Amino acid sequence: MIIFGAGGDLTRRKLIPALFHLAHGRLLPDTFAVLGVDKLDLDDVSFRDSIIESVRQQVGDAWDPAIWDWMCERLHYMQGNILEEPVYHALCQRLTLMDVERGTDGNYLFYLAIPPGLFGDVTHHLGMIGLTAQTEDDWRRVIIEKPFGSDLDSARALNRMLHQTLDEEQIYRIDHYLGKETVQNIMVFRFANGFIEPLWNRQHIDHVQITVAESVGVEHRGNYYDQAGALRDMIPNHLLVLLGFLTMEPPNSFESKAVRDEINKALDAINPLTPEQVLTHAVRGQYSEGVMLDGERVSDYRSSPGVATNSSTETFAAIKLTMDNWRWAGVPFYLRTGKRLVSQYTEVAIQFRRAPKTMFKGADVADMNPDMLVLRIQPNEGIQMSFDAKIPGPRMRVGTVNMDFCYADYFGNAPATGYETLIYDCMNGDATLFKHADTVEKGWEIVESVQDVWSALPPRKFPNYAAGTCGPEAAIDLLKRDGRRWRRIVRPKDTLIK
Ligand code: BG6
Repeated sequence: MIIFGAGGDLTRRKLIPALFHLAHGRLLPDTFAVLGVDKLDLDDVSFRDSIIESVRQQVGDAWDPAIWDWMCERLHYMQGNILEEPVYHALCQRLTLMDVERGTDGNYLFYLAIPPGLFGDVTHHLGMIGLTAQTEDDWRRVIIEKPFGSDLDSARALNRMLHQTLDEEQIYRIDHYLGKETVQNIMVFRFANGFIEPLWNRQHIDHVQITVAESVGVEHRGNYYDQAGALRDMIPNHLLVLLGFLTMEPPNSFESKAVRDEINKALDAINPLTPEQVLTHAVRGQYSEGVMLDGERVSDYRSSPGVATNSSTETFAAIKLTMDNWRWAGVPFYLRTGKRLVSQYTEVAIQFRRAPKTMFKGADVADMNPDMLVLRIQPNEGIQMSFDAKIPGPRMRVGTVNMDFCYADYFGNAPATGYETLIYDCMNGDATLFKHADTVEKGWEIVESVQDVWSALPPRKFPNYAAGTCGPEAAIDLLKRDGRRWRRIVRPKDTLIK
């Protein structure tokens, strides 16, 4: 595995810890080796020393010096400027040597942990030197991470550029949401259980809410984020991954092509918003200063490093989508995401239709809510079903109760960075959890209609929500107009959504 950008955060915080977990689970072969490439003036030993603390911290209780020693024997480093040709000659020589010394057998996984602007140059150089050419015995794969362009045109341009050197089946596009156990579990929950699928359609589901709420701000990524905004940063990728898994038809098999084709078909069915609909079906917001739940006072978005002081970039986006197919016609999907919201969690809430006849009309109703299935993606991973039950006692009283499954109760807290499955799958040539060029382009197509209107009509009232709240009032209205309401972003202390 060759990591370009080995001196960066991703390598230290995610990639090497993920490899550590794989090694711990004995999922790496003895002949495995890593070669990190970066500008920093390091050698094998100082590279290992530079990352050990971070790896130890990330893997926590799973830390085992014997595993680290095993890894150190296989962790190598090469200094070089990846924009210059000589480094690729040196890389070839080093890899040939490692093939012999470590018996790595000529299979290369290139991980581009570098800014997306460099993907094209690096793959071009790799191609020119012959490192991307596969033979019957040796495979060559390249992993890249989002952002895959910043709109449809740039995503297409990026795909064209990659395809000049690589076949589509050699490109593994990571969306780290696909590495989350609970996201993968959406498919298992739907397709491994017979009882759920008959209910999973317009006849039984009233609407779906997908929330990715973040209490963090933009941290040190102001430069990138101020260009991207909440819509482009989160919706074409992470939120649509969730939507795809929720709405796809059962694939014929769990083969990568079968799964990806069904996800693409589902995303194809999403109705693009007309410019008029954007005004009523999409909401944007930007946070001002405020107080977070723990009492911390935080400053407004516009004071974040790297952000323009008069920025009109949105830090909150909500959008109502519908789908044009038999299963989902007429069912609204409400998506929302934002920074500096009152709490940090990701969940999917599926609200079922009410019973056709309210038999218990005269009953003393303590707390009657629509039946709801909540898939808690993170934290406190699990699945919760809320429904009505009779409150014990001589009078007929009805209240809402919960059935709750928590991952931790059943499976403990398996340490994971979210990258383990993805790296393991890539090494095994399984692309099911990676994005195809088509899926990436579909994601952009869906948000482009919104982005176009937003770019043409700069927001008039930014900032429009205080840090530490549930987002702008207009997001509440988005559902209110349809006679619905969001699930609370934070439970009892919530002040905005009652
Ligand atoms: C990234 C976005 O892709 O996902 C970030 O660029 C966001 O802005 C992050 O914070 C959220 O990921 P997670 O795993 O913390 O939900």
